[in-house]
Amino acid sequence: MQTLKVALGERSYPIFIGEGLLEQGLMNPYIRGRQVMIVSNETVAPLYIEQLKASLDSAWKVDEVILPDGEQYKNLDHLNLIFDALLEKRHNRTTTLIALGGGVVGDMTGFAAAAYQRGVDFIQVPTTVLSQVDSSVGGKTGVNHPLGKNMIGAFHQPRAVVIDTNVLNTLPERELAAGLAEVIKYGLIYDSEFLGWLEQHMDRLNARDPETLAQAIYRSCEVKAEVVAQDEKESGIRALLNLGHTFGHAIEAHQGYGQWLHGEAVGAGTMMAADLSARLGWLTTSDVQRVRTLLEAAHLPVIPPADMDEAAFFELMSVDKKVLDGQLRLVLLKRLGEAVVTADFDTALLQQTLSAGEALGQS
Ligand code: NAD
Ligand code: GLY
Repeated sequence: MQTLKVALGERSYPIFIGEGLLEQGLMNPYIRGRQVMIVSNETVAPLYIEQLKASLDSAWKVDEVILPDGEQYKNLDHLNLIFDALLEKRHNRTTTLIALGGGVVGDMTGFAAAAYQRGVDFIQVPTTVLSQVDSSVGGKTGVNHPLGKNMIGAFHQPRAVVIDTNVLNTLPERELAAGLAEVIKYGLIYDSEFLGWLEQHMDRLNARDPETLAQAIYRSCEVKAEVVAQDEKESGIRALLNLGHTFGHAIEAHQGYGQWLHGEAVGAGTMMAADLSARLGWLTTSDVQRVRTLLEAAHLPVIPPADMDEAAFFELMSVDKKVLDGQLRLVLLKRLGEAVVTADFDTALLQQTLSAGEALGQS
């Protein structure tokens, strides 16, 4: 087992990474009261909830709420199911919520924990690559609104993150690829050496080699923990973690949540960010080709949906959380391994990227 720490003063917490951790009771020391509410969904619960329950202290009152599965249920209506269960089962302010699932369950559980009785503890037990390398760490929680992705939420840090890499064996192929989009992101924005390592190891990641996956998860969480420790509430460097996300969130909202997976939309969005960075003269043609080759090697889309035009992108991107005083800001690449958040780009170049369509898939 490997351990990392997210250093946030009195709100610091550990990230445990290893095989078979679900059964090891690692979260028990982080549960302060005697009540636990496990939040999961109808896909993940049948696979893993019993293992998790068996690892908890038998003296505790353990309840569960099982949500329908899907990004389309990440909304205020379904958040209410968690509050209903907490109130019906008489959970008090010392309860601990445990999120057992991917990023949807994690984001909703975290937000429920942030709001229930003005804030209770929660623990993340992420079960997808995406949630293990990104969403379970850093305390961003929330739900979608029909007019924008993740628009209703709160910063609320978990007490611990327990990453059992064995659970990835049951993950569908498409979800594996979607998670790799966020892994590639860390290489592109922060660590060119890791980017090179990913280029060499993508075959083994696709084949779910446990050792290679564990290394990729560890380095991803390490970068995320470093960034979050420097800028918890995203007033600076943390925004870089949104490479490809402004384009990607627009794709998700346009297609209807759950049609394109978040990671797939981030894949195409990353390609668009690389394309615009090249138009600005920051990346070379061969840099852009490296980005394209790596995304394709991870089985991710590199072109946006055919039915999305420039106007659709502009409308949806205008509600992005990085818009300040009406000005759109984007995460772009100064070079491979270094990103910036900037509003300083020529709108004509952005228009060229937004209308490039299939050309993004060609060198
Ligand atoms: P997800 O939670 O929808 O999970 C993907 C699918 O895999 C679901 O059908 C789920 O039931 C299934 N699944 C989960 N674990 C499984 C397992 N071990 N075996 C078999 N099936 C399994 O999607 P996701 O990609 O994990 O997360 C996407 C969400 O995360 C989005 O809502 C996105 O906005 C959010 N996100 C949040 C942050 C953050 O910082 N909070 C960062 C990135 C993404
Ligand atoms: N996934 C972006 C962030 O956590 O800030």
